[in-house]
Amino acid sequence: MKDTYILGIESSCDETSISIVKNGVECLSNIVSSQIAIHQNYGGVVPEIASREHIKNITVVLEECFKQANLTMNDIDAIAIAYGPGLIGSLLVGLEAAKTLAYLYQKPLIPVHHIAGHIYANSFVKPLSFPLLALIVSGGHTELVLMRDHFSFEKLGSTLDDAVGECYDKVARVIGLPYPGGPLLDKMSLEGEATYSLPHPLDDSTYNFSFSGLKSAVINLNHQLKQKGEVVNKENLAASFQKVVVETLIKKTKKALLDTNCKHLIIAGGVSANQILRKSALELGKELNVEVSIPPLKYCTDNGAMVASAGYYAYKLGRRADLYLNSKSQEELK
Ligand code: KG4
Ligand code: ZN
Repeated sequence: MKDTYILGIESSCDETSISIVKNGVECLSNIVSSQIAIHQNYGGVVPEIASREHIKNITVVLEECFKQANLTMNDIDAIAIAYGPGLIGSLLVGLEAAKTLAYLYQKPLIPVHHIAGHIYANSFVKPLSFPLLALIVSGGHTELVLMRDHFSFEKLGSTLDDAVGECYDKVARVIGLPYPGGPLLDKMSLEGEATYSLPHPLDDSTYNFSFSGLKSAVINLNHQLKQKGEVVNKENLAASFQKVVVETLIKKTKKALLDTNCKHLIIAGGVSANQILRKSALELGKELNVEVSIPPLKYCTDNGAMVASAGYYAYKLGRRADLYLNSKSQEELK
């Protein structure tokens, strides 16, 4: 059978990334140009600056991607683009690049939902086997999704307020860590113990999550301790926060696995890089005799390879977009 080469483009937030993936599972090159150092000066992503940086970087990233894969546009079967959700100005830069290439080289354009990309990052570990349960944990999303087939997404539950990554970043900022605080808070927590008592959010029988109360509890605790003149043990506060978050995610995931009888659990999105979550998910898999896939660290946060992999399966299903495709800042998973 002829091999299929997909070019994947991702520019939804502060990473400009382009990748070439063979047959959905073999990554030939994955170039990521991160803007973190620039946005750190502002404590978070500044959308206007992000768009401008994407414009500056995208052609360089594209050239480097082909160089590393040792391929040319003629070898590419289709162009997959993460058209949303995300920052509209950032998304537009990747989308215009994708449309230009599709038009110039007469290649099919494949629309990919950003979160579908995160889900398919797991294809680099093992092809998805259905039915599966996906725990989605990113800067903008926290969801439990049942998949009975490729691109069939049944949302079981989601966050009612903050996404888990957003909560990590806010708590990290309170503790005094720079943007994006999630990975640093994760690291810091390993040096502490969960000595502070924090509320377990939305401990109910639904598959929904809520993290804003927990975030406020950490902010208030930090404030109260400071007012009393007590020294805040940052490592212990990080460990206490992280423990509650992971316990909450795992508890609802366990319930969903038992209720749906899925035998494959995948974790998707930037927070899947979290060390305690990775460990706890693997333990849960052992306990329930469920196979667990978690992307390698380089495919956890935003990257073009995940878009190319999702693009491959979408291409095989016959999904196509025309040149009127627009970016979407908000979009249901599809
Ligand atoms: O998926 P992603 O790269 O972008 C979105 O689609 O939102 O996720 C980024 C989020 C950020 O909030 C970041 O702090 C968080 O993922 N994150 C982590 C870790 N690595 C990244 N959160 C907790 N622990 C980590 N190790
Ligand atoms: Zn993402």
